[in-house]
Amino acid sequence: ESGVPLIKAGVLTTCTHLPYAPFQSKDQTGEVVGFDVALIDLVAARLGVTQEIIDTPFEGIKSGADLNSGKCDVAAAGMTITDERKQVLDFSDPYFDATQALAVTTGKTVKTIEELTGKRLGVQGGTTGEDYIKKQVAEKKLDIEVVSYRDLAALQQALATNQVEAAVNDLPVWNEYIKANPGKVEVAAGFATGEQYGFAVKKGNAALLKTVNEAIAAARSDGTYDKIYSTWIGE
Ligand code: ARG
Repeated sequence: ESGVPLIKAGVLTTCTHLPYAPFQSKDQTGEVVGFDVALIDLVAARLGVTQEIIDTPFEGIKSGADLNSGKCDVAAAGMTITDERKQVLDFSDPYFDATQALAVTTGKTVKTIEELTGKRLGVQGGTTGEDYIKKQVAEKKLDIEVVSYRDLAALQQALATNQVEAAVNDLPVWNEYIKANPGKVEVAAGFATGEQYGFAVKKGNAALLKTVNEAIAAARSDGTYDKIYSTWIGE
């Protein structure tokens, strides 16, 4: 009995948006696994409960709707901490650093967004990558058609089948895709957006947030974080 209130007894309910490997995706048996899953398992262990994962669109996660409506206790979705999201969610301490990256199918010579003039550029709806690209296109007045896909799988599929000339998403996600599908796609450019991922709880859920932060801190100091990192991310 941890004293941390949970929406369902004995269970830590996590909202995420699949697929987002290596942070969360289904393995061959249909089980959801990944970097975020492993870290939240540590939170569940501290609470003496088990983690249950709900797959739900990113929009409802980042807007706070899912946490506020009691759909889940915690959000773990490779989610970048932003000032806008901080208005509606309480974030944990940062647990991962990321940047955005432009991916193309192997053999394409594109190296900059500007070279996509007159072409289609794919992004994932509701993400920081979408925001970054829309801002760049507007500020530089680029003639690029930005196409938003509902999830990562749809975006990667669009890139692989040449529905878009290039696609933007978080760098670790492209690195994972390249590992899983060697030779198909390459990273053409990186954008140093300096993002940090955080887990989120409903605004004001200080008890759960404290446990999440304690789990992250303990994992960092006892080597568990490094083990999880090398399992899911690599060196
Ligand atoms: N890091 C990006 C963001 O926070 C993308 C996250 C997408 N996550 C997911 N599980 N689909 O906007």
